[in-house]
Amino acid sequence: MDKPALLVMGELPDWDLEPLGRDFTLHLLYAAKDPEALLAAHAADIRGIVTKGEIGASAALMDRLPKLEIVACYGVGIDAIDRAWCAAHKVPITNTPDVLTEDVADMAMALLLAAARRIPASDAWVRDGSWQRSGSMPLTTRVWGKRMGIVGLGRIGSAVARRAAAFGMPISYSGRTSKEVPYTWYPTPAALAPHVDVLVCCAMGGPTTQGLIDASAFAALRPGTIFVNVSRGSVCDEAALLAALREGRIAAAGLDVFWNEPNIDPAFLGFGNVVLAPHTASGTIETRKAMGQLMRDNVAAHFAGRPLLTEIR
Ligand code: 8YV
Repeated sequence: MDKPALLVMGELPDWDLEPLGRDFTLHLLYAAKDPEALLAAHAADIRGIVTKGEIGASAALMDRLPKLEIVACYGVGIDAIDRAWCAAHKVPITNTPDVLTEDVADMAMALLLAAARRIPASDAWVRDGSWQRSGSMPLTTRVWGKRMGIVGLGRIGSAVARRAAAFGMPISYSGRTSKEVPYTWYPTPAALAPHVDVLVCCAMGGPTTQGLIDASAFAALRPGTIFVNVSRGSVCDEAALLAALREGRIAAAGLDVFWNEPNIDPAFLGFGNVVLAPHTASGTIETRKAMGQLMRDNVAAHFAGRPLLTEIR
């Protein structure tokens, strides 16, 4: 019997592609010299899409796949997948929650520490001989004990809060509803902003959070705040973020995500007080293996007629 055909939207490690390829015929859209020709030749046979958080699957693409049965995302965020299309066509979506939570929270703390303690600049200071030539580096900013504000206290936000608690940081958060947690709740980022020294964005992406950290939220920050984003660039009004950096309202930032990845606004490159990462918060070997396994388990379950492990409801 023919193996079911899958459309693979983005690059995956060999440790996922090889096992997937044993059970499925893979069409690698990201590797195709002529993606249009690949679709023209195979769209009619595709029964599953394997995609990534930042790539998703558009209605325009899925409209061309008459046999589509499942969209499996290698990532927790499904904001780039057209959910309305999938609901209308009864195509289930799966993602990879939980397995990446702790690594993304680690990255939030890493970016916070790197930005506040100027770790990249310290590294350069040693390497370029500034230490011998100029002596001590300028002093940096303390992290422990500072007031931590978390936008979006979901799985990842809660994991950041646990880490912040270990740093002796009083914690507050914003979200649609208050939760049964020992942290202070504010209804919006703008209401939270004046009460924190560090603002970490952990809210999921998508239409409901687009521009959630808006100009009024950035304007409400106390001068000197440190800003970290490990969720989606879309959750921030990026023009307002850049303005806050220019004005010094944000003293330092650690950013893993941007509006237009990977072609980010070059203005970010001009700030010495911003630590940049290329959307790698979940990018450890351990977590990526777990994400790949969970994604493959979902695809296998679907084609074996078993219940999906982590379906989006
Ligand atoms: C990416 C992510 O999926 O989980 C998410 O939503 O954005 C990331 O984990 C990852 O970079 C794989 O492409």
